[in-house]
Amino acid sequence: MTLGIGGLHAGYGRIEVCRHIDLQLADGEFLAVLGANGAGKSTLLGAIAGVVAHRGSIDLDGTQLASLNARERARSGLALVPEGRRNLFSPLTVHENLQLGLRLLPAADRTRLLDEILSMFPILGARRTQAAGLLSGGEQQMLALAVALARRPSVLLLDEPSQGLAPLLLQNLAEQIRALRSMGLAIVLAEQNHRFAAQLCDRYVVLVAGEIGDEGSRDQLQDAQHVAHALMAA
Ligand SMILES: Nc1ncnc2c1ncn2[C@@H]1O[C@H](COP(=O)(O)OP(=O)(O)O)[C@@H](O)[C@H]1O
Ligand SMILES: [Mg+2]
Repeated sequence: MTLGIGGLHAGYGRIEVCRHIDLQLADGEFLAVLGANGAGKSTLLGAIAGVVAHRGSIDLDGTQLASLNARERARSGLALVPEGRRNLFSPLTVHENLQLGLRLLPAADRTRLLDEILSMFPILGARRTQAAGLLSGGEQQMLALAVALARRPSVLLLDEPSQGLAPLLLQNLAEQIRALRSMGLAIVLAEQNHRFAAQLCDRYVVLVAGEIGDEGSRDQLQDAQHVAHALMAA
């Protein structure tokens, strides 16, 4: 699926946070959205997912999503994994959280997809009766990904999944995200951690005060000096 964002402005009430955003995401492509704290990364992902007010155009494979609500966008193939794993219900068990994720699918497809997800994240099967809030940070991040995958999306919007995870867990997370890629998902990853993003993305943009201030290839992102320069402007 191809995602095209054109002339997107997004914000809260009269506060405009993101301005003039144009982005193209090809089938199966991986785009990193970098930027300092407060640059507008979460606002941009929220606008695409339909949970933050916006104007402009959001086209998914020829379907205009801008006038659809968040649930309709989810049905069209967008899934947001919000910052701080806020798509999880802490008192509910792992299994119950997954069932909530699966509820948008036809009942006949649920069991098979659940099996697929649990084979990707076996630890979630072992923890199925545990409350989500009692999982470790790394396990919660896995569950947050799994709940989003339960909607069988074509485009995954990942908001700072690395946040709060120990360096050792970051490697596991990077491998899991790579595995999602190989399923053919297009991914937009918002990150402050540009080293983490550089392991995964094809291209990046840097948000500077809500506008795209710089963009480039993964090779350019691995050039630390170039990135430090771009982020310093942020
Ligand atoms: N619910 C909200 N209401 C008003 N302003 C907000 C809200 N959420 C975020 N902001 C403001 O929008 C700006 C961008 O925030 P955010 O998109 O969360 O940035 P980032 O994800 O890059 O850290 C910040 O100035 C922040 O204070
Ligand atoms: Mg954020």
